[in-house]
Amino acid sequence: MEQVQEKQLVGEYAAKYVEDGMIVGLGTGSTAYYTIHKIAQRVKEEGMKLTFVSTSTRTTKLAQTLGLTIHNINDVPEVDLTIDGCDEFDPQLKGIKGGGGALLFEKIIATSSKQNIWVADRSKKVEVLGAFPLPVEVLTFGSSHTIRKFEKEGLNPSIRKKADGSVFITDSQNLVVDLHLSQIEDPEGLSIWLNSLPGVVENGLFLGIADRVIYPKADGSIEEVNA
Ligand code: 5RP
Repeated sequence: MEQVQEKQLVGEYAAKYVEDGMIVGLGTGSTAYYTIHKIAQRVKEEGMKLTFVSTSTRTTKLAQTLGLTIHNINDVPEVDLTIDGCDEFDPQLKGIKGGGGALLFEKIIATSSKQNIWVADRSKKVEVLGAFPLPVEVLTFGSSHTIRKFEKEGLNPSIRKKADGSVFITDSQNLVVDLHLSQIEDPEGLSIWLNSLPGVVENGLFLGIADRVIYPKADGSIEEVNA
Protein backbone atom coordinates (compact mmCIF):
# COMPACT_ATOMS: atom_id res chain seq x y z
CA MET A 1 0.00 0.00 0.00
CA GLU A 2 1.31 3.48 -0.86
CA GLN A 3 2.01 5.86 1.99
CA VAL A 4 -0.78 8.22 0.96
CA GLN A 5 -3.24 5.30 0.96
CA GLU A 6 -2.09 4.34 4.45
CA LYS A 7 -2.71 7.91 5.62
CA GLN A 8 -6.20 7.89 4.13
CA LEU A 9 -7.01 4.46 5.59
CA VAL A 10 -6.12 5.31 9.19
CA GLY A 11 -7.10 8.96 8.97
CA GLU A 12 -10.66 8.13 7.92
CA TYR A 13 -10.91 5.14 10.26
CA ALA A 14 -10.10 7.22 13.36
CA ALA A 15 -13.12 9.47 12.75
CA LYS A 16 -15.31 6.64 14.07
CA TYR A 17 -14.17 7.54 17.60
CA VAL A 18 -15.90 10.91 17.41
CA GLU A 19 -19.25 10.83 19.24
CA ASP A 20 -22.18 13.21 19.09
CA GLY A 21 -21.82 16.20 21.44
CA MET A 22 -18.03 15.98 21.76
CA ILE A 23 -15.54 18.82 21.82
CA VAL A 24 -13.02 17.65 19.24
CA GLY A 25 -9.41 18.72 18.66
CA LEU A 26 -8.46 18.67 14.99
CA GLY A 27 -4.85 17.76 14.26
CA THR A 28 -2.48 19.03 11.59
CA GLY A 29 -0.86 17.28 8.64
CA SER A 30 -1.54 15.03 5.70
CA THR A 31 -3.01 12.19 7.80
CA ALA A 32 -5.21 14.37 10.02
CA TYR A 33 -6.43 15.87 6.72
CA TYR A 34 -8.35 12.65 6.03
CA THR A 35 -9.75 12.55 9.56
CA ILE A 36 -11.05 16.09 9.21
CA HIS A 37 -12.69 15.28 5.88
CA LYS A 38 -14.34 12.19 7.33
CA ILE A 39 -15.58 14.07 10.39
CA ALA A 40 -17.05 16.77 8.16
CA GLN A 41 -18.80 14.05 6.15
CA ARG A 42 -20.24 12.52 9.33
CA VAL A 43 -21.46 15.93 10.50
CA LYS A 44 -23.32 16.36 7.20
CA GLU A 45 -24.67 12.84 6.90
CA GLU A 46 -25.45 12.08 10.54
CA GLY A 47 -26.28 15.60 11.75
CA MET A 48 -23.75 15.30 14.56
CA LYS A 49 -23.46 18.28 16.88
CA LEU A 50 -19.76 18.81 17.55
CA THR A 51 -17.56 21.64 18.82
CA PHE A 52 -14.13 21.97 17.23
CA VAL A 53 -10.79 23.43 18.25
CA SER A 54 -7.83 23.52 15.90
CA THR A 55 -4.09 22.87 16.20
CA SER A 56 -2.99 25.26 13.42
CA THR A 57 -4.02 28.00 11.02
CA ARG A 58 -3.73 25.44 8.23
CA THR A 59 -6.22 23.12 9.90
CA THR A 60 -8.56 25.99 10.75
CA LYS A 61 -8.67 26.95 7.06
CA LEU A 62 -9.29 23.37 5.97
CA ALA A 63 -12.07 22.88 8.54
CA GLN A 64 -13.74 26.12 7.55
CA THR A 65 -13.73 25.20 3.86
CA LEU A 66 -15.55 22.01 4.90
CA GLY A 67 -18.17 24.01 6.78
CA LEU A 68 -16.89 23.33 10.31
CA THR A 69 -16.76 26.14 12.86
CA ILE A 70 -13.56 26.41 14.90
CA HIS A 71 -13.80 27.66 18.46
CA ASN A 72 -11.12 29.39 20.47
CA ILE A 73 -9.44 26.90 22.83
CA ASN A 74 -9.99 29.44 25.63
CA ASP A 75 -13.75 29.14 25.17
CA VAL A 76 -14.00 25.41 25.85
CA PRO A 77 -13.65 23.81 29.31
CA GLU A 78 -11.79 20.72 28.10
CA VAL A 79 -11.37 18.86 24.82
CA ASP A 80 -12.97 15.39 24.76
CA LEU A 81 -10.90 13.88 21.97
CA THR A 82 -8.05 15.05 19.76
CA ILE A 83 -7.06 13.13 16.65
CA ASP A 84 -3.67 14.13 15.25
CA GLY A 85 -0.78 12.75 13.23
CA CYS A 86 2.75 12.10 14.46
CA ASP A 87 6.23 11.90 12.97
CA GLU A 88 7.44 8.96 15.07
CA PHE A 89 6.05 6.76 17.83
CA ASP A 90 7.84 4.14 19.90
CA PRO A 91 6.50 1.00 21.68
CA GLN A 92 5.54 3.09 24.77
CA LEU A 93 3.64 5.52 22.49
CA LYS A 94 6.12 8.29 23.16
CA GLY A 95 6.40 10.38 20.03
CA ILE A 96 7.88 13.16 18.00
CA LYS A 97 5.58 15.76 16.47
CA GLY A 98 6.06 19.06 14.71
CA GLY A 99 7.02 17.94 11.24
CA GLY A 100 4.41 20.40 10.03
CA GLY A 101 5.64 23.04 12.44
CA ALA A 102 2.48 23.06 14.56
CA LEU A 103 3.96 21.43 17.68
CA LEU A 104 3.15 24.26 20.10
CA PHE A 105 -0.58 24.45 19.44
CA GLU A 106 -0.67 20.66 19.05
CA LYS A 107 0.84 20.19 22.50
CA ILE A 108 -1.46 22.75 24.11
CA ILE A 109 -4.54 21.10 22.58
CA ALA A 110 -3.28 17.57 23.34
CA THR A 111 -2.57 18.34 27.00
CA SER A 112 -6.03 19.92 27.27
CA SER A 113 -7.68 16.76 25.90
CA LYS A 114 -9.19 13.86 27.83
CA GLN A 115 -8.14 11.50 25.05
CA ASN A 116 -5.53 11.67 22.29
CA ILE A 117 -5.48 9.41 19.25
CA TRP A 118 -2.62 9.52 16.75
CA VAL A 119 -3.04 8.38 13.17
CA ALA A 120 0.16 7.23 11.54
CA ASP A 121 1.43 5.54 8.40
CA ARG A 122 3.79 2.61 8.92
CA SER A 123 6.93 4.71 8.46
CA LYS A 124 6.23 6.41 11.81
CA LYS A 125 6.67 3.26 13.92
CA VAL A 126 10.16 3.09 15.47
CA GLU A 127 11.92 1.25 18.28
CA VAL A 128 13.87 4.33 19.43
CA LEU A 129 12.86 7.94 18.77
CA GLY A 130 15.21 10.29 16.98
CA ALA A 131 15.72 9.35 13.34
CA PHE A 132 13.17 12.07 12.55
CA PRO A 133 14.77 15.44 13.38
CA LEU A 134 13.30 16.77 16.64
CA PRO A 135 11.49 20.08 16.05
CA VAL A 136 11.95 22.78 18.68
CA GLU A 137 10.00 26.04 18.57
CA VAL A 138 12.40 28.88 19.39
CA LEU A 139 11.77 32.56 20.02
CA THR A 140 13.41 34.72 17.34
CA PHE A 141 14.79 37.06 20.04
CA GLY A 142 18.24 35.74 20.92
CA SER A 143 17.80 32.71 18.67
CA SER A 144 21.48 32.63 17.64
CA HIS A 145 22.38 32.24 21.33
CA THR A 146 19.72 29.61 21.92
CA ILE A 147 20.95 27.69 18.90
CA ARG A 148 24.55 27.94 20.14
CA LYS A 149 23.45 26.23 23.35
CA PHE A 150 22.05 23.36 21.25
CA GLU A 151 25.36 23.18 19.35
CA LYS A 152 27.37 23.05 22.58
CA GLU A 153 25.29 20.04 23.64
CA GLY A 154 26.03 18.33 20.30
CA LEU A 155 22.38 18.44 19.20
CA ASN A 156 23.11 19.31 15.52
CA PRO A 157 20.55 22.11 15.10
CA SER A 158 19.35 23.53 11.81
CA ILE A 159 16.88 26.36 11.31
CA ARG A 160 13.88 25.10 9.33
CA LYS A 161 13.46 26.63 5.90
CA LYS A 162 10.56 26.51 3.47
CA ALA A 163 10.86 25.00 -0.01
CA ASP A 164 11.60 28.48 -1.44
CA GLY A 165 14.56 28.89 0.95
CA SER A 166 12.91 31.43 3.26
CA VAL A 167 12.83 30.83 7.00
CA PHE A 168 9.81 28.88 8.28
CA ILE A 169 7.80 30.90 10.81
CA THR A 170 5.23 29.26 13.07
CA ASP A 171 1.66 30.37 13.76
CA SER A 172 3.07 32.09 16.88
CA GLN A 173 5.76 33.90 14.84
CA ASN A 174 8.63 31.77 16.13
CA LEU A 175 11.36 29.72 14.44
CA VAL A 176 11.51 25.94 14.24
CA VAL A 177 14.96 24.52 14.92
CA ASP A 178 15.32 20.85 13.96
CA LEU A 179 17.73 18.77 16.05
CA HIS A 180 19.42 15.98 14.08
CA LEU A 181 20.00 13.37 16.75
CA SER A 182 19.63 9.91 15.13
CA GLN A 183 18.65 8.36 18.48
CA ILE A 184 17.18 9.90 21.62
CA GLU A 185 18.28 7.78 24.59
CA ASP A 186 16.57 9.88 27.28
CA PRO A 187 13.53 11.69 25.82
CA GLU A 188 12.27 12.85 29.23
CA GLY A 189 15.66 14.34 30.19
CA LEU A 190 16.07 16.03 26.81
CA SER A 191 12.56 17.46 26.90
CA ILE A 192 13.10 18.91 30.40
CA TRP A 193 16.48 20.37 29.44
CA LEU A 194 15.17 21.95 26.22
CA ASN A 195 12.17 23.54 27.92
CA SER A 196 14.42 24.92 30.67
CA LEU A 197 16.16 27.21 28.17
CA PRO A 198 14.59 30.69 28.16
CA GLY A 199 14.46 30.96 24.35
CA VAL A 200 12.73 27.62 23.86
CA VAL A 201 8.98 27.90 23.53
CA GLU A 202 8.26 24.15 23.25
CA ASN A 203 9.79 20.97 21.90
CA GLY A 204 8.32 18.22 19.75
CA LEU A 205 8.69 15.35 22.22
CA PHE A 206 5.18 14.20 23.16
CA LEU A 207 5.66 11.93 26.15
CA GLY A 208 2.79 10.26 27.96
CA ILE A 209 0.30 12.10 25.75
CA ALA A 210 -1.00 9.59 23.18
CA ASP A 211 -3.65 7.20 24.51
CA ARG A 212 -3.91 5.26 21.27
CA VAL A 213 -2.01 5.03 17.99
CA ILE A 214 -3.73 3.72 14.87
CA TYR A 215 -1.53 2.54 12.00
CA PRO A 216 -1.75 0.02 9.15
CA LYS A 217 0.01 -3.32 9.20
CA ALA A 218 1.87 -4.67 6.17
CA ASP A 219 -1.21 -6.67 5.07
CA GLY A 220 -3.34 -3.51 5.02
CA SER A 221 -5.29 -4.30 8.19
CA ILE A 222 -5.51 -1.69 10.92
CA GLU A 223 -3.56 -1.99 14.16
CA GLU A 224 -4.59 -0.05 17.26
CA VAL A 225 -2.18 0.20 20.17
CA ASN A 226 -3.30 1.61 23.51
CA ALA A 227 -0.99 3.21 26.07
C1 5RP B 1 2.46 18.74 12.43
C2 5RP B 1 2.58 17.36 12.95
C3 5RP B 1 1.99 16.28 12.12
O1 5RP B 1 0.99 15.66 12.83
C4 5RP B 1 3.09 15.31 11.76
O2 5RP B 1 4.12 16.02 11.11
C5 5RP B 1 2.56 14.19 10.87
O3 5RP B 1 2.25 14.72 9.62
P1 5RP B 1 1.72 13.82 8.43
O4 5RP B 1 0.41 13.24 8.84
O5 5RP B 1 1.61 14.79 7.28
O6 5RP B 1 2.75 12.76 8.15
O7 5RP B 1 3.10 17.09 14.01
O8 5RP B 1 3.16 19.64 13.24
